[in-house]
Amino acid sequence: MTPVSTPTASATDSAADFISQENEHAAHNYHPLEVVVSHGEGAWVTDAAGRRYLDCLAAYSAVNFGHGHPALVAAAKDQLDRITLTSRAFHNDRLGPFVTALARLANKDMVLPMNTGAEAVESGIKIARAWGYRVKGVEANQANIIVADGNFHGRTTTIISFSNDEQARADFGPFTPGFRSVPYGDAAALEAAIDANTVAVLLEPIQGEAGIVVPAADYLPAVREITTRNNVLFIADEIQSGLGRTGATFQCDNAGVVPDLYLLGKALGGGIIPLSAVVGNRDILGVLRPGEHGSTFGGNPLATAVGLAVVELLETGEYQQRARRLGERLLDGLRGLLGHGVVEVRGAGLWAGIDIDPALASGRQVCELLMERGVLAKDTHGSTIRLAPPIVVEEHELDWAVQQLSEVLAELRG
Ligand SMILES: Cc1ncc(COP(=O)(O)O)c(C=O)c1O
Repeated sequence: MTPVSTPTASATDSAADFISQENEHAAHNYHPLEVVVSHGEGAWVTDAAGRRYLDCLAAYSAVNFGHGHPALVAAAKDQLDRITLTSRAFHNDRLGPFVTALARLANKDMVLPMNTGAEAVESGIKIARAWGYRVKGVEANQANIIVADGNFHGRTTTIISFSNDEQARADFGPFTPGFRSVPYGDAAALEAAIDANTVAVLLEPIQGEAGIVVPAADYLPAVREITTRNNVLFIADEIQSGLGRTGATFQCDNAGVVPDLYLLGKALGGGIIPLSAVVGNRDILGVLRPGEHGSTFGGNPLATAVGLAVVELLETGEYQQRARRLGERLLDGLRGLLGHGVVEVRGAGLWAGIDIDPALASGRQVCELLMERGVLAKDTHGSTIRLAPPIVVEEHELDWAVQQLSEVLAELRG
């Protein structure tokens, strides 16, 4: 059985229409593959022409539990019939259960709910600065935060201020001061950058957009030790790595460390609605006072109803275990392609970065050829492809995707 059916002419026409409407009227801040997705179920999506594709991106891990997960859709539908938005001017009966469950899952005291990942990062930065001035005693407006080269934490002006990616920064200055970037994976450089005004270290436990860069096993424990010794907060951006993707609730669990603040997003909203959060203990999150920070949609009952259902899925541990088991199989399969057009494979859990031999093809070209074969994946940084299928994917489907990549590379090698 092949999962790719032949498109009909009329359906193809309408796909071209959708693309031209986007080209005409949507800002050109993305360069999507030429596929128009109209339905999704589990690990599969269907395009406007009726062709099926294995979704090996899962919306950058926002769809960890698969498209249309029955428990998540039921939670959303039930809430749609009750109430969707109250603002935080009033209490609602969904926020309390959600923050209680998420705090328990993370083994922390408090949760600040927001919407997008970038907002969680911005919130983490504000909390760290306020903690620095109010608790640590840093001189007013002198706080600095240490980040890592190659980071990706979102797209706001403050966040791009500490990016090293010129494409993300060019023509968007002036930038927010107060950040120092050090090489990722180098604990000594990180310690050397700390001074009396350092309030936090902000890191991705695995750098996703950089190409699934997994640091050495002793790096995050060293960061934890250095930050504790220097009275500096350790903020782990688990927006992409967290909530099951790497075979654990948090990648920090795999590394054996507990950060001061977790930044969560993406899968927290079940692939249904934006929902992000900063999670930490009262001695840090408690610095926020009424009126200092907020968001109209942050903590809304629709998002938190879905978020509670997401936490309930994670509480069973089933998805974490599955990602770990399937991930080993995926990485084994991908390692079999080393020397056959693949120069390096990195990963953790069900999350893989594959460096294609740049002499053979760009990551984009490989993704286009994979798409023709019914596999959707996304390139990054020229010759890298990342794979992050929904955790509900089946073993034989993963094997099939690796087989497609193998055949694409064979085709390119001629
Ligand atoms: C590690 C990390 N942090 C933050 C973000 C920003 O999230 P959002 O796109 O929801 O603002 C992303 C998005 O890719 C991410 O991967």
